[in-house]
Amino acid sequence: MSILPSSVTEIAHELPAVGVSNRHARATIFLHGAHVASWRPVGEAEVLWTSVRSWFAAGKPIRGGVPICFPWFGAHPTDAAQPAHGIARLRPWTLGEAEDLADGRTRVVFRLASDPQTEAVWPHAFELKYTVVVGAELELTLEVKNSGQEAFTFEEALHTYFDVADVRRAKLTGLEGARYLDKVDGGAERTQAGPLLFTAETDRVFAGAEGPCTIEDPVLGRKIVVAKAGSKTTVVWNPWVAKAARMPDYGDEEWPGMVCVEAANAGTERVTLGAGQARELRQVIGVRR
Ligand code: BG6
Repeated sequence: MSILPSSVTEIAHELPAVGVSNRHARATIFLHGAHVASWRPVGEAEVLWTSVRSWFAAGKPIRGGVPICFPWFGAHPTDAAQPAHGIARLRPWTLGEAEDLADGRTRVVFRLASDPQTEAVWPHAFELKYTVVVGAELELTLEVKNSGQEAFTFEEALHTYFDVADVRRAKLTGLEGARYLDKVDGGAERTQAGPLLFTAETDRVFAGAEGPCTIEDPVLGRKIVVAKAGSKTTVVWNPWVAKAARMPDYGDEEWPGMVCVEAANAGTERVTLGAGQARELRQVIGVRR
């Protein structure tokens, strides 16, 4: 544990976490998965959503906030026994540097490196560095470094769950005209016509979608702007009624209150890194009234 500035405190919980509180915002980040679970800009309601039924346990993913998916996205490509969305969200990360920035924001760094347990599942040497900047915007930067001798290929996502008053009345803009795989329809290829409206289970993997999206929430009277860099894939997900009922760590009635808008590199947009190479994936979240 590093020396923490006054804006950062350790929180007693079933899982270790840090709380960040500064003049711009408050946030809670679990070391388990380096999982940002809460971000509340001053004067604003909670922006991230977490299920009341979430596990908070070693070896299980947290349902909500910002799970980090790495080194694969969704089901493992060949081994159904492996956990969905990879291993990074299931592992304890270490807390690295934390500092107050001159403008009042707080920067906290988390790290995860390959070890014999990760190599048993994914036989590559890697170093992950996750930088969270808590301010009036939330900046999340995942750096993946290949610390081995040979190239590797991976998928990744910042799988952010956003809080909305009622997803049926929300709309998502920024993906108009983009091509997507519709996972609700066996991976059918489609084109997004107009803003994305939520009228049924939604699970879309947009390719070549590098721009920002905006979640318009007319009930809360706010817009959540989700910008990103180093990401070619955007994933949009809401489980709706039946899938919500099938998930043990998700309340049956909770689905209207959230939507995932994920900054990813997945499928045909997976990434190859040569020995010693590193790259960054970033998501920057802001709220407009
Ligand atoms: C989304 C996927 O990113 O994550 C969905 O596109 C999946 O198919 C969802 O259901 C949640 O995944 P998990 O493993 O956290 O239940």
